Amino acid sequence: MTAGDRVRIGLLGCGNVGAAVARMLHDHAEDIELRSGLRLEVTRVAVRDGARDRDVPVPRERFTTDPREVVDDPDVDVVAEVMGGIEPAHSLILAAFAAGKPVVTANKELLGTFGAELFEAAGRHDVDLLYEASVGGGIPLIRPLLESLAGERIVRVTGIVNGTTNYVLTRMSEDGSSLADAIAEAQSLGYAEADPTADIDGHDAAAKAAILAAIAFDAPVVAGDVYREGIAEVSADDIANARRLGYVLKLLAIAEVVDGGVSVRVHPAMIPSDHPLASVRLSFNAVLIEGERVGELMLFGRGAGGDPTATSVVGDLIEASRNLRHGGRSAGAARARVRPIKPIDELPAQYCIVLRVDDRPGVLAAIAAAFAEHDVSIKSVWQEGHGEEAQLVVVTHRGPERALRACTDALRSLAAVREVSSVIRVEGGEP
Ligand SMILES: NC(=O)c1ccc[n+]([C@@H]2O[C@H](COP(=O)([O-])OP(=O)(O)OC[C@H]3O[C@@H](n4cnc5c(N)ncnc54)[C@H](OP(=O)(O)O)[C@@H]3O)[C@@H](O)[C@H]2O)c1
Repeated sequence: MTAGDRVRIGLLGCGNVGAAVARMLHDHAEDIELRSGLRLEVTRVAVRDGARDRDVPVPRERFTTDPREVVDDPDVDVVAEVMGGIEPAHSLILAAFAAGKPVVTANKELLGTFGAELFEAAGRHDVDLLYEASVGGGIPLIRPLLESLAGERIVRVTGIVNGTTNYVLTRMSEDGSSLADAIAEAQSLGYAEADPTADIDGHDAAAKAAILAAIAFDAPVVAGDVYREGIAEVSADDIANARRLGYVLKLLAIAEVVDGGVSVRVHPAMIPSDHPLASVRLSFNAVLIEGERVGELMLFGRGAGGDPTATSVVGDLIEASRNLRHGGRSAGAARARVRPIKPIDELPAQYCIVLRVDDRPGVLAAIAAAFAEHDVSIKSVWQEGHGEEAQLVVVTHRGPERALRACTDALRSLAAVREVSSVIRVEGGEP
């Protein structure tokens, strides 16, 4: 082995993902060398707490609490940013590029916000910025989209990209858990953070949706462009109603081309129970890609966890190392094709509206009139009496979102309607 066959890796972070990367590079070193002709070795690691013992095959003297040392070290050829957060990760990646070093990152939050700037900087310095682990953890998604499907026109990408919310919704659906109990259970199993807001409110899924949309549609989409609703309002009744109608409730990230523009959104949705994404349970992730020629394609697997995520980081490290040694750069950047972002109001939608109404003659007629007035056509109505009040579950046909919203507002002001208990979108066709 010559010095040129050895590639020195600097890790920014040695937590769940970073430690798994260090162990995998060590344990699989021979396989990696056989396949790539390169020996990847961790030469420098930055952590916050320098005193903590870590179960990684890296000598202690290679650790530092100053991440800048990793980036600047002449003994580091490729940088893996697995520390998370915006700063200092953002500045460190820019500094690595300026030093001519390729970067591999798992940081969806950073890419979802500063992706365009970082790709531009990587291009200017002619180095790789690879980010397979940022969406779908261990599921290969970015490279299939960027490379295998480079000649295809993608029309829609629909994903379950947040394992915590999928776990919570699965427990609520299958075991009748309440939202609060299911979140507490996800936390005790290590799926959810102590503060689960980023997951429950859909921020994490929105950052991933932005990354996927940017790649699929060559458009500079950022997390702020993504329409977002989380699962905080989802109730056991919503789940029961969905099941009764032949649907399953999921938090979906959807990116699609609509009338020449791009729509990117994250929201809970009822999907038919035989839809390919309906069987994605617990903390698993999956992304359904629809292309003009390829049709439907689904990628399924573990969207989080140190070891699965490390496989994506290590794959990127091998790719970046190959490029460094043999020349060339990988397709990484979202090429800017100006496509307007379609506001949710301009999209077609289908709603399931649950109403608590007075159980007396004439009520159904008044409600039907409100739908007719807003030109919203009803697909099905299901009614259940509860003494003096009844629950009405109305599924609309597909129609303009704006009309559906106006209709829902009108329903709220009807004397016979005690409450609009929930409004959930329906996606993925008929059950
Ligand atoms: N965990 C997953 O399943 C998963 C899946 C996909 C993507 N990701 C992404 O991967 C990244 C890392 O996630 P993780 O779960 O491995 O996080 P983590 O367990 O919290 O690890 C973060 C690591 O970075 C170090 N660190 C943080 N800030 C630092 C600073 N300012 N200076 C020096 N070191 C610093 C921490 O040091 P200490 O150890 O001393 O605290 C720790 O080693 C995030 O961007 C995350 O979104 C994670």
